[in-house]
Amino acid sequence: MTRAAVLCGVGGALPTIAVSNEELASRFDTSDQWIRTRTGIGNRHVIEPGRATSDLAVEAATEALAVAGRTAGPAPVDLVVLATSTPDRPCPATAPVVAHRLGLGTVPAFDVAAVCTGFLYALATAVSMVTAGLADRALVIGADTFSTILDPADRTTAAIFGDGAGAVVLRAGEADEPGALLGFDLGADGAGEDLITVRAGGSRQRASGEAAAEGDQWFAMQGGPVFTEAVLRMSESSRTLLERLGWTGGEPAKVVAHQANIRILRAVGEQLGLDEKQFVVNLDRVGNTVAGSIPLALRDAVADGDLASGQRVLLTAFGGGLTWGSAALVWPDLGRPAPTPPELP
Ligand code: COA
Repeated sequence: MTRAAVLCGVGGALPTIAVSNEELASRFDTSDQWIRTRTGIGNRHVIEPGRATSDLAVEAATEALAVAGRTAGPAPVDLVVLATSTPDRPCPATAPVVAHRLGLGTVPAFDVAAVCTGFLYALATAVSMVTAGLADRALVIGADTFSTILDPADRTTAAIFGDGAGAVVLRAGEADEPGALLGFDLGADGAGEDLITVRAGGSRQRASGEAAAEGDQWFAMQGGPVFTEAVLRMSESSRTLLERLGWTGGEPAKVVAHQANIRILRAVGEQLGLDEKQFVVNLDRVGNTVAGSIPLALRDAVADGDLASGQRVLLTAFGGGLTWGSAALVWPDLGRPAPTPPELP
């Protein structure tokens, strides 16, 4: 039997502060109609003052570990990989403090930074370590608080991004079990580093010393080219993986794509010849939660009854770097669904 990494738990977390399109329209020259038509987004959440990315990561992980305890029994977690581009601090990584706060002891814990593709890169890393025998039960978290780095004057990024976290638990298992990660396709192209960026605060434009150019401390994105690249890269990556797996003729049953923009998801669907109904969508409620996006969408799909055990599922993402990737699995039986998130006020 081939050793594999099997998904056995999923969880998510959102800050309590919800920001509607109407509220954004009271702050910016924008409207609910513009945001809904151009992006499909109706609401997003922003982190409460004094809270940070690790707080959301701990919440999402707690839920995922509870589900894993029910489906796979109690076993110690021996690896934590956290995808984030908004760590609590530039140094050290945020994963160790998350592991500490979860009471996981001194297990290896580290961050992966691949912006909106971060969760898939983190998942591939953890799957590799589990299949290589370096870990038996791994916690993989995607968590971001982009509200902390958005330009307060930029209506476009304010409309798109939201804060949130999601997590999955992997256990060592066998390749023919439901939940086994069946394959990945990953890519990157640094020629596009300026399309999605925070220019200042790193070693190129330093946080101290010479003042950063006006606005360079904020997240900046070139929406048009990003849209085009996102459709191209997610479609190509998905096609590559689907062909490798022999999933053709309307498969997979479900696509859980990075929740960037409903028009991006529709365009990827057209490229792949898949129906819009095959796409899991929660961006209307949460916007683009960056590394949190795919695991949060998985968690919401379980809660909404939108993912059934035995369904073939494709995950695909695109993000800053540029980075992109896809992964595939047969959805496992995770028992009773996670509780539905509270109604927005
Ligand atoms: N409200 C109202 N108008 C807005 C707006 C907002 N929130 N944001 C931008 N606009 C304006 C623009 O300023 C522009 O005005 P102009 O024509 O006077 O210059 C106009 O709307 C059209 O802009 P355009 O960029 O052509 O719109 P679009 O249909 O491409 O939508 C995005 C803009 C940002 C929604 C879209 O490009 C997008 O989703 N890009 C990908 C973003 C993304 O997914 N990023 C993360 C990737 S991981």
